[in-house]
Amino acid sequence: MEPGFWHEKWHQQQIGFHQQDINPFLVKYWQRLALPEDAKVFVPLCGKSLDMCFLAEQGHQVIGCELNELAVQQFFSDNQLEMTQTTVGEHQHYQTEQVSLYQGDIFTLPKSITQDVTAFYDRAALIAWPESMREQYAKQLANLLPRGSVGLLVTLDYPQEALSGPPFAVSPTWVDVHLTDDFEIQALACQDVLADNPRFVKREVSWLNEAVYLLKRK
Ligand SMILES: C[S@@+](CC[C@H](N)C(=O)[O-])C[C@H]1O[C@@H](n2cnc3c(N)ncnc32)[C@H](O)[C@@H]1O
Repeated sequence: MEPGFWHEKWHQQQIGFHQQDINPFLVKYWQRLALPEDAKVFVPLCGKSLDMCFLAEQGHQVIGCELNELAVQQFFSDNQLEMTQTTVGEHQHYQTEQVSLYQGDIFTLPKSITQDVTAFYDRAALIAWPESMREQYAKQLANLLPRGSVGLLVTLDYPQEALSGPPFAVSPTWVDVHLTDDFEIQALACQDVLADNPRFVKREVSWLNEAVYLLKRK
């Protein structure tokens, strides 16, 4: 999607993608990565996700990238965290003890920012892109991640013709075909989440699967 689309969503606070609870797959599967407490974790297209609080609670240093300024400010104000703000190139850098958010475009995020990360977490980031831009995003994510880094990818899949995204449907086949050059892929779980998503129920979408994959950057 174009930046204007997301800025408008945040301005109108039409942020149905934002979860009030920590993602259950994150809670259930994060330990599988067997990371040291002080690992640096990259969260692309982070919004104001509470999942970053979970990661910080594990002892990790969290590095997020988010386009929209309001999203970043709300992350700190919602969680009553004091932060400092500096300018790093064309990004604004907001920092508190364990969370460091770079506000700006992920496509121009300097590689130096993520060079020390050993882990990553993509929830509602890959699926935020229409198919025409999805591969470009996946390549940029791979470009930002050091070899050997491990992460969780959380996707949604549904009959795309039933609804226009975002979120866009990402099938296990798409993940296999398009991520395999850059990542080792292990499908961990897939669950029917239709009943938890009124927008999909209302539009009579016949099925909605949430899946989680363990990825390792090759
Ligand atoms: C579907 S939301 C998901 C947010 C978060 N991952 C979550 O789980 O709540 C996608 C987010 O990506 C941000 N975004 C879109 N394009 C971006 C870009 N080019 N660079 C950085 N962030 C972007 C949007 O502003 C939006 O907050």
